[in-house]
Amino acid sequence: MSAEGQSAPAEQHEVAVYDRGAAVVQADAFENPGLPPHRPRQTDLHPVKERRAERQVVWWFLLSMVGSVLAIIAYVAVPIESGDMGTVRFNNLFLGLGIALALLGVGFGGMHWARQLMSSHEVVEERHLSRGSEKTRARAVEIFQLGDEESGFSRRSLIRNTLIGAIALVPLPAVVLFRDLAPAQDAVEAISNTMWKAGSRLALDPTGTPIRATDVTIGSAFHVIPEELKDLGHDEGYLDQKALASVLLVRVPLDRLNEQPARAGWSYDGIVAYSKICTHVGCPVALYEQQTHHLLCPCHQSTFDVTNHAKVIFGPAKRPLPQLPITVDDEGFLIAQSDFTEPIGPSFFERLGHVDPEHVPLSAAELETRA
Ligand code: FES
Repeated sequence: MSAEGQSAPAEQHEVAVYDRGAAVVQADAFENPGLPPHRPRQTDLHPVKERRAERQVVWWFLLSMVGSVLAIIAYVAVPIESGDMGTVRFNNLFLGLGIALALLGVGFGGMHWARQLMSSHEVVEERHLSRGSEKTRARAVEIFQLGDEESGFSRRSLIRNTLIGAIALVPLPAVVLFRDLAPAQDAVEAISNTMWKAGSRLALDPTGTPIRATDVTIGSAFHVIPEELKDLGHDEGYLDQKALASVLLVRVPLDRLNEQPARAGWSYDGIVAYSKICTHVGCPVALYEQQTHHLLCPCHQSTFDVTNHAKVIFGPAKRPLPQLPITVDDEGFLIAQSDFTEPIGPSFFERLGHVDPEHVPLSAAELETRA
């Protein structure tokens, strides 16, 4: 605003418009400062350095060839054997090294070639108008109309409409085929049942040694599997079952445990068990912070509060870790009361509210009898 309260007049620019096309140029535009003077590289000035750069590029490409061959040899010479994790590791290691060498060799070689040996003169490409002349545009419309007339596309409406219908349906078989790539088993079903059942002893992972309640001291954390899992062979789905049933067991001081009334009988003397599979995208929640009683998922830092039924206090996970109801048997070993009462693992819309009616923890009266 000026001193008199009037708006200052906007700065005026004289504008010139080409007679055709959408480009606009300012008549008072800045003068093009042009490119800085070209500076030759060492390889432009010294033939010896040029030949050295050439050899370096060749070495990069040779290295790439070696990497490709190594990847193929590794794939054939180190096959993956079912159930043998050692072969998976070696196969992945050599395959990865080979492919990495192959790609890096081509990449670095190409870059080195472009930077040191290809022409380094700057080039300016003028932008031209992209709109056609009126004559060209009129001719295009004419051709289009002629095509329409000759083909009868507008006139033969029945053919046109059935063609549109046929084209609309062509992608449908692909949808069906892609649908078939999904797991054969219902996803919710696959993660709703684990090996845990009433009476399953909680055992140390991986030895399968059953755990007594007295072994679990305050501040300790145990990685736990069902005792029966150790009898399962690798070809009988050992890893699949372990991925579903893995549990973290911790003991917290009773006065810190804030249990929901409905789950009052699911812990034993401050010992609680939660699924180890993160409810975000399924990484193992393996870090226990014993001062705060927080469980941390290393993948995206979701943090669960063990004292508050593993509710999410930080991170992208959307629901608490499912709790495994536990108690002790006559010999003092920790046992499960049932399987999990909700699907373990990542959350997604199809499973919301899903509770398997067959997974029922012990009633208060049954727990009383046991005690
Ligand atoms: S998988 Fe655990 S936070 Fe993402």
